[in-house]
Amino acid sequence: MDTQVAIIGGGPAGLLLGQLLQRAGIGTVILERQSREHVLGRIRAGVLEQGLVGLMRQAGCGARLQAEGFAHSGATISYAEQSFRIDFEALTGKPVMVYGQTEVTRDLYDARDRAGAPIHFGVGDVVIDGADGDAPTVSFTEDGTQRTLRCDYVAGCDGFHGVSRRTIPETQRREYEKVYPFGWLGVLSRTRPVHHELIYANAPRGFALCSMRNEGLSRYYVQCRLDDTPDSWSDADFWEELKRRIPPEAAEALVTGPAIEKSIAPLRSFVCEPMSWGRLFLCGDAAHIVPPTGAKGLNAAAADVHYLSRALIARYARGDETLLRRYSEDALARVWKTERFSWWFSGLLHRFPDQSGFEYKMQLAELDMLRTSRAAQALMAENYVGLPY
Ligand code: FAD
Ligand code: DHB
Repeated sequence: MDTQVAIIGGGPAGLLLGQLLQRAGIGTVILERQSREHVLGRIRAGVLEQGLVGLMRQAGCGARLQAEGFAHSGATISYAEQSFRIDFEALTGKPVMVYGQTEVTRDLYDARDRAGAPIHFGVGDVVIDGADGDAPTVSFTEDGTQRTLRCDYVAGCDGFHGVSRRTIPETQRREYEKVYPFGWLGVLSRTRPVHHELIYANAPRGFALCSMRNEGLSRYYVQCRLDDTPDSWSDADFWEELKRRIPPEAAEALVTGPAIEKSIAPLRSFVCEPMSWGRLFLCGDAAHIVPPTGAKGLNAAAADVHYLSRALIARYARGDETLLRRYSEDALARVWKTERFSWWFSGLLHRFPDQSGFEYKMQLAELDMLRTSRAAQALMAENYVGLPY
């Protein structure tokens, strides 16, 4: 069983890379630890940058997104009894697109099915060998049988807990990390969204976010303690807490209903340098994590896929390895800016357990700047809609 590019991980990064390469005539095999249903059942990101929308189109997967996605030209930020809107479209000429990660993943699976390209679900014991030489192999178990895949290159798209990053010897990589002292409790409910755009709230009791997937499906988050569990929050507790944190007009308009999904995500900033080792290239959460504030995780993964697909296509089309050699450098230059934005936006909007009165005043002063300064809004908007590739 041989291929040109072995892709570890069938999440959005692995699937998008697979699709872009497949369309360029490059053979790929995707190895995914979970089942397809499991991957599609994970409720995660919901806001796509134009860059990712463009890549989906390039991958031949743009039609449903175009038809069913919702372009948002701005968002509201509320704090200390006031709220203001940032008009992304007026400031940058670009909107963002609301379309769930589950739908992105579904469209990519469907495209891979149509192309008849191989994807192995439920694989175990993945081991990458020889990535620092000329002939890498990936071994794994499938249905109790040990198999080995020979390939030219390995794309490590297996998320934060995958094997790819750990294949790079510790002496050859450096990891940078910040763990935040709180989490996000997220609820998905079949209710009409409280507002036609997103609301980000910095409230005395902590952060809250009102988001959505479509006209009948809302996604809400509240900052919670790290030792909370989804079961420790009843639906009623959740709605009560959300109402306390969002502007009063929104709290009044909020339609509540049963939670169809409830989960807690910890917040982390993380970067692994470099993002490549020999013939192994890391993409997405395998190489970096951002706290969710600002919806950058999925979009950052897509940017890596842009750089890596471009480099692999140049290698196979013209034998030119220049972009492959530069992949880590090119990807990291953008990753660090995305890390900065997500760190800054998280710091601006959350209550920190050890926050001093001075630090709270600094948050308020910065929010005042963002409310009143076009320059401050322009910088925020430029990052929110997505930095260029
Ligand atoms: P993943 O989506 O993690 O995909 C990696 C895939 O690799 C998985 O399918 C996994 O099963 C598979 N895998 C792992 N190990 C192996 C192995 N050894 N062998 C084979 N396969 C393996 N981002 C936002 O922008 N907004 C959000 O609201 C948001 N919410 C999130 C909530 C949670 C709970 C999490 C974990 C992330 C969230 N993110 C959010 C981040 C965003 O979802 C990720 O950045 C995005 O999924 C990254 O895609 P990826 O393909 O790099 O990694
Ligand atoms: C969503 C998540 C985010 O982190 C964010 O900043 C905006 C929207 C969401 O899941 O809809």
